[in-house]
Amino acid sequence: MKSPLKNKWVLITGASSGFGMAAAKAFATHGANLLLGARRVDRLKRAAAESKRAGAGQAHFHFLDVAKTASVEEFVSWAKEKIGSRKSGGGNLHVLINNAGGAHGLETVARGKDADWEAMIQSNVLGILRMTRAALPLMARDAGASIINIGSVAGHAAYEGGAVYCAAKAGELQITRALRMELLGTGIRVGTVDPGLAETEFSLVRFKGDAAAAKKVYEGMKPLAAEDIAEILVWIAGRPSHVNIDELIVKPVDQAAVGKVFRRADR
Ligand SMILES: NC(=O)c1ccc[n+]([C@@H]2O[C@H](COP(=O)([O-])OP(=O)(O)OC[C@H]3O[C@@H](n4cnc5c(N)ncnc54)[C@H](OP(=O)(O)O)[C@@H]3O)[C@@H](O)[C@H]2O)c1
Repeated sequence: MKSPLKNKWVLITGASSGFGMAAAKAFATHGANLLLGARRVDRLKRAAAESKRAGAGQAHFHFLDVAKTASVEEFVSWAKEKIGSRKSGGGNLHVLINNAGGAHGLETVARGKDADWEAMIQSNVLGILRMTRAALPLMARDAGASIINIGSVAGHAAYEGGAVYCAAKAGELQITRALRMELLGTGIRVGTVDPGLAETEFSLVRFKGDAAAAKKVYEGMKPLAAEDIAEILVWIAGRPSHVNIDELIVKPVDQAAVGKVFRRADR
């Protein structure tokens, strides 16, 4: 059976690793056309090549820094050109995945650093706003298009050292809810996928390249893999056009709540 995502244009931010890269490959297996953005262009090139091999109709990539309005606007005009100038499934953006983001540091508020706070708010909050504002004109009404934002369990519960990341993801959740109401009547679907512990480069970034500290986060437990989330993104975008998945929390079985993790080594 032909996938509803075949030849549809899918734009993924943060496609250079983790969920974003896995999502590129997952949408590719459905024959989607991909527009991939992130700051590490060498990684994007690899993601695009692997996506082509996995079945993408087209797979394009371009530098994107969601923390900068000018970069977002330049990226979206590039995307518009790609969508418009090639044979596509209707010439519109079908899926926008606002995935770029992450955590920087695990310091308490008393010890927090401005640069970390600013990076988290820029990418996780303002990045979604900028991307959505710029990309919305590329999305058709009543055509089953979807905006899927990546939140986190951190947007639902606070933890020590997570003040700003939790605030940023709580912000992402409220932006998603507001947008859902703002787009009511357009047929454009809006939702958030909020994962728990997943082993990607997330912790490596949070701990600024300290691989041992990053590894410890997942010690003795089985975290989600990037592919687990990627499959869910494809499933959401592939629902019939009258179905909106508003909010989805996805955790590993070994994580019952933020800070409540079953670790086999502890037994
Ligand atoms: N892993 C988890 O446990 C977990 C749980 C819940 C939610 N999340 C969320 O899931 C999303 C993806 O994270 P991940 O786990 O896949 O981690 P990851 O492997 O570190 O991937 C993060 C992606 O975001 C991109 N990115 C970061 N800042 C950016 C910016 N300013 N402009 C453009 N791209 C930017 C990175 O690309 P470049 O560095 O190349 O720009 C990278 O492709 C994030 O929003 C994260 O907060 C992760």
